Amino acid sequence: MLIDTYGRVATDLRVSLTDRCNLRCTYCMPEEGLQWLAKPDLLTDDEIVRLIRIAVTSLGVTEVRFTGGEPLLRPGLVSIVERCAALEPRPRMSLTTNGIGLKRTAAALRDAGLDRVNVSLDTLRPDVFKALTRRDRHHDVLDGLAAAREAGLTPVKVNAVLMPGLNADEAPDLLAWAVAHDYELRFIEQMPLDAQHGWKRDGMITAGDILESLRTRFTLTPEEDEERGSAPAERWLVDGGPHRVGVIASVTRPFCRACDRTRLTADGQVRTCLFAREETDLRGALRSDAPDEEVAALWRRAMWGKKAGSGLDDPSFLQPDRPMSAIGG
Ligand code: GTP
Ligand code: 5AD
Ligand code: SF4
Repeated sequence: MLIDTYGRVATDLRVSLTDRCNLRCTYCMPEEGLQWLAKPDLLTDDEIVRLIRIAVTSLGVTEVRFTGGEPLLRPGLVSIVERCAALEPRPRMSLTTNGIGLKRTAAALRDAGLDRVNVSLDTLRPDVFKALTRRDRHHDVLDGLAAAREAGLTPVKVNAVLMPGLNADEAPDLLAWAVAHDYELRFIEQMPLDAQHGWKRDGMITAGDILESLRTRFTLTPEEDEERGSAPAERWLVDGGPHRVGVIASVTRPFCRACDRTRLTADGQVRTCLFAREETDLRGALRSDAPDEEVAALWRRAMWGKKAGSGLDDPSFLQPDRPMSAIGG
């Protein structure tokens, strides 16, 4: 079991498969991209599957989410999913993606055993998409979303980050669209995880702003508390249901007390939190032929040191050295 000193148990593993991405979202990375990890530094497919096997069979992990960067850029993704689906007990598996390439891969991912996907889409306007992501790929994302729904990778969740001056006014339009297409929309507060360190608390759009904007067009009824569990999203029924909308308010209403996550970066480091500054090297252990039990012990020790919260409200808060695309979104 991966338990920390606050009694939280991590059962949800987020695995970053690559730090690379084919978009350049302004809240994430600069136009020129980043200094990507070198191939030999990345975990191999075998190393990833081994770590997931250890997590599932010895450490109590029940949910595995593949993230990036953009996880669809990892050539071995389908086979990694397939090999994880054969583990006993079989973990539930999901993918967080920008959706580009899903049209091509959704059916294969489902056949390999993937359960569902979350797709990032911040705007319904192709020109705004281009300004936000610096790439003209809006259409590919919409196609990817439709393919995921058709393949049964459901519920298909859509993540949207609102940015002042770009898509800040789009919350109600996005919700109307999501309801019409049967996607579960969640708005995410912008977090200080961009490579450029451009985040400012005064500049961000808060959960309060988003709800106020949605309520100009929809009636929102809060979901019962017990349905939330450890999910980062607070959810509301839209116009009496059955559709829901979520808000992930990592900044203004942090949910760290219920956090059940552990993370693995693409270069094999355990992180206890998105905002942690410490990492524990599992890749080194794997490559020096450590037995499973030793790797598991390192992982347990890392999680035991998990901090109470993100520390965002502390005056001494320091952004983590790695941006979100390198930690795993
Ligand atoms: P499901 O609801 O189970 O689909 O998972 P999810 O919402 O965690 O998945 P997703 O990968 O779509 O994450 C959405 C957003 O949740 C991320 O972009 C973050 O903003 C936020 N998030 C995920 N993990 C953490 C975490 O450990 N800490 C904080 N503060 N936010 C997180
Ligand atoms: N703040 C909030 N969300 C972010 N994402 C990427 N960078 C940030 C940030 N700085 C979102 C992506 C994706 C999810 C994994 O994280 O849009 O939906
Ligand atoms: Fe890529 Fe995701 Fe970062 Fe956008 S937020 S640039 S999709 S890693």
